[in-house]
Amino acid sequence: MAGAAGPQLQLHGERTTGQDVRTQNATAVLAVANILKTSLGPVGLDKMLVDDIGDVTITNDGATILKLLDVEHPAAKAGGGGGQSTVILVELAELQDQEVGDGTTSVVIVAAELLKRANELVRAKIHPTSIIGGYRLAMREACKYIEQQLAIPTSSLGAETLMAAAKTAMSSKIVGADSDFFGRIVVDAVTAVKSEDEETGRVRYPVGAINILKAHGKSAKESQLLDGYALNLGRAAQGMPKNVKNARIACLDMNLQKARMHFGVQVLVTDPKELELIRQRELDITRERIQKIIDSGANVILTTKGIDDTALKYFVEAGAIACRRVPKDDLRRVAKATGGSIVMTLADMEGNETFDPANLGVAEEVVEESVADNDMLMIRGPKNTRAVTVLLRGANDYMLDEMDRSLHDAFCIVKRVLESGQVVPGGGAVEAALNVYLENFATTLGSREQLAIAEFADALLIIPKTLAVNAAKDATELVAKLRAFHYSAQTNPEKKALAQSGLDLVGGTIRDNIAAGVVEPALSKLKIIQFATEAAITILRIDDLIRLEPEPQEGEE
Ligand SMILES: Nc1ncnc2c1ncn2[C@@H]1O[C@H](COP(=O)(O)OP(=O)(O)OP(=O)(O)O)[C@@H](O)[C@H]1O
Ligand SMILES: [Mg+2]
Repeated sequence: MAGAAGPQLQLHGERTTGQDVRTQNATAVLAVANILKTSLGPVGLDKMLVDDIGDVTITNDGATILKLLDVEHPAAKAGGGGGQSTVILVELAELQDQEVGDGTTSVVIVAAELLKRANELVRAKIHPTSIIGGYRLAMREACKYIEQQLAIPTSSLGAETLMAAAKTAMSSKIVGADSDFFGRIVVDAVTAVKSEDEETGRVRYPVGAINILKAHGKSAKESQLLDGYALNLGRAAQGMPKNVKNARIACLDMNLQKARMHFGVQVLVTDPKELELIRQRELDITRERIQKIIDSGANVILTTKGIDDTALKYFVEAGAIACRRVPKDDLRRVAKATGGSIVMTLADMEGNETFDPANLGVAEEVVEESVADNDMLMIRGPKNTRAVTVLLRGANDYMLDEMDRSLHDAFCIVKRVLESGQVVPGGGAVEAALNVYLENFATTLGSREQLAIAEFADALLIIPKTLAVNAAKDATELVAKLRAFHYSAQTNPEKKALAQSGLDLVGGTIRDNIAAGVVEPALSKLKIIQFATEAAITILRIDDLIRLEPEPQEGEE
């Protein structure tokens, strides 16, 4: 049994220590990163993942691939050498997704490369603590260098920067072929939801206020940007108006169906007339509820649950729009945008039923329109945040889902560029510049961290190398050229402009990537470097793996 018995530690399980566990972890992490490698960059390819019930996902998004890999091989988590450390990668990609929204593939590839090189250093008898110290120092220097030397304020670049950033983010995705078209939609959508905090004056771009609707059919190019929050459903009855101005919106999470006696309640009546009265009362309860809601001034009623057909006439008489079975997510966002709140019950503190008009959301108008062969309810001019809807068209679900994920990346990138106002050239430019800078920096240090910093510098080159390999170009030669460009940019003040050099993956040459419109928000690169370093360090610190065997169940023996 587990526990200390005698002078020696006895474990009911397995223990791996030192170099073994480090190598196991590095191998597992590298194996996962290798899966992602071919999907990096504008000429990267997609992955198809099939889960245990046969659901198919086709994607290029690093975070999504890792999440699904995780689902596919739970064994990689529960057992198998070093498999546990891949959990850290999955979380790493998710973190990057939350904080930036793009760069999830890059962050995993860089982390794995850092770990691989650290492992080799440990084998060469450098203590992990020195390596960790070196990596931390290199990370700080790299971030400082990006902020002070490489980042370019968008104000000096002109209005087309936003469009360029959106196109770069989408270049590797399924929508990349139509990136001019989708870039416009993305930039318009994000700038449309701009909101300013009244107290602090801070401008924000809440990406959550952009609703994405997917509809089968037609081609991707028939996608459109609609003003207002669109609900993918129509009015509950034909008699209701199609258009309500000065809308007061009640968001309900309750049934407006005939009130039924609770299950198991028995009422014995002797007179059939009384039965009739019970029935009538059941109907009246719902009618009274609806009347209370309408009396509060509501003229649009949305509920996540049902409304009886018999009850619809009360709404028709009041000239109000009612919708049933509204998805809860949609309702939550409508409530947030219009400043209303979701009501789950009419019961109040006194035991009566009332509806407080303060719960109503406000919008300029609510209209039913037919868009893409469907009836949709558009909520225009909500009180709190402006809302827009992107209607995606596409051949099938797989494509629509992937378009959704790609647009999400682009929304986040445009938001970051707008909020932070700083961009860097893409296509391996930043990584090559940092490589040259850090290598010089390492040589100036006379301490034991030197080696680790030099390895850190080399590890960053994995991005331009992978980009070139994926584009079927000669990676060694291209990356050597790229480094030479950055070396002269950093040593020769006359050639400073060469700091913007990055890969041209179509022509297989080096070009000024700012001029070519391949730009990324500086924040994205900073986070990639910070998160990847932290993740590599987390795994590097592990030098003991103890896996307890499950306790035998009673009666099994
Ligand atoms: N037109 C281009 N020319 C050269 N490099 C490009 C171009 N467009 C994008 N890149 C580079 O491709 C890389 C981004 O690739 P990709 O979008 O596949 O991965 P990611 O952003 O790391 O992850 P994900 O998008 O899956 O979250 C960046 O390094 C970027 O600089
Ligand atoms: Mg990307």
